[in-house]
Amino acid sequence: MEDSIQKIVSLCKRRGFVFSSSEIYGGFAAIYDYGPYGVEVANAIKREWWKAMVQLREDIVGLDSSIFMHPKIWEASGHVSGFSDPLAECKNCNARLRVDHLLETIEVFADEKMDEEEINKIFAENKEKIKCPHCGKNDFTDVKKFNLLVKANLGNFAEDWTKEPTYLRGETCQGIYVNYKNVLDSTRVKIPFGIAQIGKAFRNEITARQFIFRTREFEQMEMQYFVHPDKEMEEYEKLKDFRWRFYLDLGIKEENLRWLQHENLVFYAKEAYDIEYQFPFGFKELEGIHARSDYDLSQHTKFSGQDLSYTDQVSKENYMPHIIESSAGVGRTFFAVLCEAYTEEEVKGETRVVMKFPKKLAPIKIAVFPLVKNKPELVDKARELYNKLKMSYMCEFDSSGSIGRRYRRQDEIGTPYCVTVDFDSLEADDVTVRDRDSMKQERIKIEELETYFQEKYSK
Ligand code: GAP
Repeated sequence: MEDSIQKIVSLCKRRGFVFSSSEIYGGFAAIYDYGPYGVEVANAIKREWWKAMVQLREDIVGLDSSIFMHPKIWEASGHVSGFSDPLAECKNCNARLRVDHLLETIEVFADEKMDEEEINKIFAENKEKIKCPHCGKNDFTDVKKFNLLVKANLGNFAEDWTKEPTYLRGETCQGIYVNYKNVLDSTRVKIPFGIAQIGKAFRNEITARQFIFRTREFEQMEMQYFVHPDKEMEEYEKLKDFRWRFYLDLGIKEENLRWLQHENLVFYAKEAYDIEYQFPFGFKELEGIHARSDYDLSQHTKFSGQDLSYTDQVSKENYMPHIIESSAGVGRTFFAVLCEAYTEEEVKGETRVVMKFPKKLAPIKIAVFPLVKNKPELVDKARELYNKLKMSYMCEFDSSGSIGRRYRRQDEIGTPYCVTVDFDSLEADDVTVRDRDSMKQERIKIEELETYFQEKYSK
């Protein structure tokens, strides 16, 4: 299991999908950068999400709210008082560790809603069985809860931010709630309707775990759906079904997905499920789908003093809309897509590593090669082809190394098609197109190439 993660992590570095942040300075804990191919896959995931959630939905509109928001928003949302993880420090090596994760190592499962006293009691009862994952000792401090919001010094003068601390947003949905009225007043939406956005969120996560699974800076894809209170559960079921199908459409195998129902709901929630993916380290959350009642708009009404209730134009009924939420992570979806795509095959006694991305998620759609790089006629013809194809597809031109090595490189990037211009191409005006998955090659006339790829990429 750990082995397969290592293989994916090493491919990500080797082929430019993901790098540790600030690597030349020794890295920066739990923060990662997307490299040239990673950013293409992440963008493709976001495009698919936006298409499914906004473009194809008459009842959902998009938004891009700012990362900095009025500090009161985080009080209204409950993040300032409640958004905290239980931590203990190892007295031997000073590592600060999530207590719920330490307890998990001995199969004791703490509820994240427990207060400091409750979790301290469970931890004290089990302390001697637990070892520090860094130094192996078992000498810990008491548990402290630690706020996950990242404070920011916004403002020109120290007194600006000492008076009222500002934060980098801890989740994107708050920007949706506080713009709900603007959207209602400026567009033609009527309840039921949704607002969707993709954007960065920041959390002081304590433990960096499992590569990009839990990071301190990450991107969320969130959609909040505003409904009549009587329709909350009906719309909730529809949203669950819709979101499940999204992952299947991304090419994720259904047997690698499962539902997790939350047993301990927060007091205002009606229902909460996670969609989990079977990562090499077990089933873990990809997305949360929650029925949140009228909590969010009621809280913002209370804290802002603005009435966020809704009046139905036909029935004149006035009510506080209920919200159902779909909240997914770009990084986790990306990680799941990588795990699904990673394939090793035996080819003529050698291991071929190939990323079998669905075509719509592949970072490079077509690679174009001249057979050799020291024949200008071949290079020029291949370049001409590349210049034409790149107008419609993300393409790569590569002329260095043996053709076999170039194929293997594109296999690891996950490029569905490689086009080679060879000596016959000069006479017959055709090329070889090699398919990533079957490795079969076929000759295609250059004049037919555009139609050929249109057909391949329309499926
Ligand atoms: N608005 C609800 C919300 O933020 P969440 O369960 O805290 O709920 C939703 O986060 C999704 O965001 C998760 O399912 C996960 O995909 C992603 N996510 C949350 N914290 C993350 C982190 N530290 N690193 C990467 N992704 C994260």
